[in-house]
Amino acid sequence: MKVLRLTTEELVACDGFDHHEAVYSISDVETGLEGFIAVHDTALGPGAGGCRFWTYGNRAEALSDVLRLSKAMSFKNAMAGLPLGGGKAVVWAERGDIDRTSFFRAFGRAVETLKGQYVTAEDVGTRIEDMVAVSAETSFVSGLPAQEGQPGGDPSPKTAHGVFLGIGAAVKFALSRSDMKGLRVAVQGLGSVGFHLCEELHRAGAELVVADIDEAKVRAAAEKFHARVVRAPDILFEPVDVVAPCALGGVLTKENVSRLNAKIVAGAANNQLSSDQVGELMRLRGILYAPDYVINAGGIIQVAAEYLGLSSDMVEERIGMIPMSLQQIFEESNWRHQSTNHVADTLARTRLAGSHPAAAAV
Ligand code: NAI
Repeated sequence: MKVLRLTTEELVACDGFDHHEAVYSISDVETGLEGFIAVHDTALGPGAGGCRFWTYGNRAEALSDVLRLSKAMSFKNAMAGLPLGGGKAVVWAERGDIDRTSFFRAFGRAVETLKGQYVTAEDVGTRIEDMVAVSAETSFVSGLPAQEGQPGGDPSPKTAHGVFLGIGAAVKFALSRSDMKGLRVAVQGLGSVGFHLCEELHRAGAELVVADIDEAKVRAAAEKFHARVVRAPDILFEPVDVVAPCALGGVLTKENVSRLNAKIVAGAANNQLSSDQVGELMRLRGILYAPDYVINAGGIIQVAAEYLGLSSDMVEERIGMIPMSLQQIFEESNWRHQSTNHVADTLARTRLAGSHPAAAAV
């Protein structure tokens, strides 16, 4: 296993670099593991964030992804009030025939070499069994099978619940409604989070429009939630009250924002905006955007509670605070005439700056 720290000279020109504390290139010839671990900011605690298992076009694309995702984790953890910093890992396989357990054990060895600077968990493409394999090599891992009465296991239902509560806050703010009966919601992506979100929305009386590239998931949602199905490329532009992106990032762009037909964009996907400017374009069009890393913090709250040994009640309490954080952001966005993503970034950066040793000494 090779773990090499990238130099600042290697990083400054990279898309997504934000003065990250440390970025490592990892590789293991024996298992075919390749990847990056990025630690963005540890002022509030160890850099915590999931491990994404994905196929990238090239190394630069993977590096840019880990840089953006780890920065978002610093902001997410700060806004959720967790004693954790921001980190993330992306890994891919150099060959097709990997032994998954050995592959993730090798990743665990890489995490162990960082001695707690980074704490890993599941993300897109990784599951509980992978984290169990990681845990054979390091204790700096969360998202493991839940112990009786303790937080743990798959974080997706908690992420979905936080998004559901966040949609409630957005609906109250933008539409002056406190119930979801007949609310029209378009959900993009019916994976671990999207499906659970549909469940909660359906139970609350919302009318669902859904899309996924996986036909079986679409059929299941149509049957279970009486959801109307549309083609995947059309879902974001449906005439609905709320669009909930719950697939991959970068789906809202300068080019497509003019085609949105919803009053609210509020979903689970990380890094939904292809650039910060997209948030301002939405504001100018009167579309309320719930910043992704604020509304989707439910999962990391559970993962953090498991890692830090906090109770299930504490998890519920913290997730219950997501609507309040959003309300504050929506109000500030209104009176400052700034996009909600800009307001959230400013609040998160202020919290981080206040925790840096230099700030504490002033
Ligand atoms: P997942 O991999 O289980 O589900 C993603 C779904 O999106 C899949 O069903 C996939 O077929 C679908 N999809 C992919 N491309 C699509 C397209 N072009 N149009 C429609 N559907 C498409 O992932 P998961 O865990 O549900 O996460 C969803 C998003 O939420 C990701 O962006 C993830 O980073 C984010 N997130 C997830 C958390 C969690 O607890 N799982 C926590 C915080 C954020």
